[in-house]
Amino acid sequence: MTKKIAVLPGDGIGQEIVAEAVKVIDVLRADFGLDVEMEEGLVGGTAYDAKGHPLPEETLDLAKSADAVLLGAVGGYKWESLPIEVRPEKGLLGLRSGLGLFANLRPALLYPQLASASTLKPEVVSGLDIMIVRELTGGIYFGQPRGVRTLDNGEKQGFNTLVYSESEIRRIGKVAFDIAMKRDKRVCSVDKANVLECTELWREVMIEEAGARPEIELSHMYVDNAAMQLVRAPKQFDVMVTTNMFGDILSDAAAMLTGSIGMLPSASLDENGKGMYEPIHGSAPDIAGQNIANPLATILSVAMMLRYTLDEPEMAGRIEKAVNAILDQGKRTADIWTEGSEKVGTAEMGDAVVAALRG
Ligand code: NAD
Ligand code: IPM
Ligand code: MN
Repeated sequence: MTKKIAVLPGDGIGQEIVAEAVKVIDVLRADFGLDVEMEEGLVGGTAYDAKGHPLPEETLDLAKSADAVLLGAVGGYKWESLPIEVRPEKGLLGLRSGLGLFANLRPALLYPQLASASTLKPEVVSGLDIMIVRELTGGIYFGQPRGVRTLDNGEKQGFNTLVYSESEIRRIGKVAFDIAMKRDKRVCSVDKANVLECTELWREVMIEEAGARPEIELSHMYVDNAAMQLVRAPKQFDVMVTTNMFGDILSDAAAMLTGSIGMLPSASLDENGKGMYEPIHGSAPDIAGQNIANPLATILSVAMMLRYTLDEPEMAGRIEKAVNAILDQGKRTADIWTEGSEKVGTAEMGDAVVAALRG
C-alpha cells in the first residue's frame, strides 16, 4: 500500500534542504519502486504568516494521517519578537507532543572522508559512532508551571519546571537499551543527579530498567562532564540517553565532531515506530536563501525514515552509499569544505546525491 509522507519544509534553509531531500525521494520512487506519496504542509513562521499559527490544525491533521513526517527547520529573525505561544518553535514542539514523539534518535556518525573537516583532531574523531537518545516530549520543555510573573516588589520572575514521571523515564530508557542491544551494548545515562532531584529519579529508574538486561553495561555521567568528555574523548561513548534539554545541547556539540551540524539527521519516534524525521540543526537564518546550506543531514534523515518507519532498509542503505560516494568524489558544501575539495551549493549537493543514486 502506498505510504504517505507529510513534507513540512518550515522556515529559512528548511525550504532549500527539504527540496533536496524531496529530489532524493522522487528518484527512489521513479527508479527503485519506492511506493510513497508526499503532501506538503505549513509549519513554523511561514505557517504563522499564512494562517496566524505556527502549527495550523490542518498541518497537525496531515502529520497525524501520514505514515511519516519530513521536517526542515523552523524559526527566524522575523518572528523572534512574537509572543512565545505563537513562535515558530512552538509549531515544532506541538508536532512532537501532538504526535507523541517521545524518543529522539540523533546519531553522530563520522564519515571518514570528513575527519579533517572536524574542528577536533582527526585521530580524536575517526571511527566515531555515537547514538544520542534524547527524551523529546517531557522535561523542562513541557513542564508546568511555566511563565513570567511579577513579584510583590514589582520585579519580574521567569520560571520553568523540570519534571519527569517514572513512566516517561522508563520508556526512553527502554528505547536506549533496545538500540544498545544492536550496537556495543553500552549505555551512558547523562543527568545532573548531584543537584536535581528530578534527575536523581532519572538515574534510579535507569538503573532499575537496566537491571532487567544484564547484557547492557550502564554508566552514569553528570552532564557537565559529559559535555567535556564529548570533546575530549568522544569515542568512549556508544549510546547516550538523556533528558530533553541536555540532549538538545549535547547533540549540537556531538554534531561538530562529525564535521558540521549540517551532517546530523534525526528520528523522533512514538510508541509504535511512527516518526518525524529532521536534521538536528535549525533554520540557519544567517545563510538562508543563499544556496550554501548543507542538505545532507536532511537527506540522511530520509534514510532514517526508510529504516525506522517505512521498513525499507535497503533503500536507506542506497542513500547512505550515495552520500559516501559523493564525499569520495570530494564534493563539499561550505560548512564541510577543506582545502583541495570541491565546493558545491545546496542544490548541486542534492543533484550529486541523486546522480550517485542513479549510479
Ligand atoms: P542553527 O542550527 O539554525 O544554526 C547554527 C549555525 O549553524 C549557524 O551559523 C548556521 O548557519 C549553521 N548551520 C545550521 N545548519 C546548517 C546547514 N545545514 N549547513 C550549513 N550550516 C548550517 O541554530 P540557531 O542559529 O541557534 O537558530 C536559528 C533558528 O533556528 C532559531 O529560530 C532557532 O529557534 C531555530 N532552530 C530550529 C530547529 C529545528 O527546527 N529543529 C533547531 C535548532 C534551531
Ligand atoms: C532542536 C531545536 C528545537 C529544540 C527548538 C527549535 C525547539 O533546537 O530540534 O534541536 O530545542 O528541541
Ligand atoms: Mn537543538
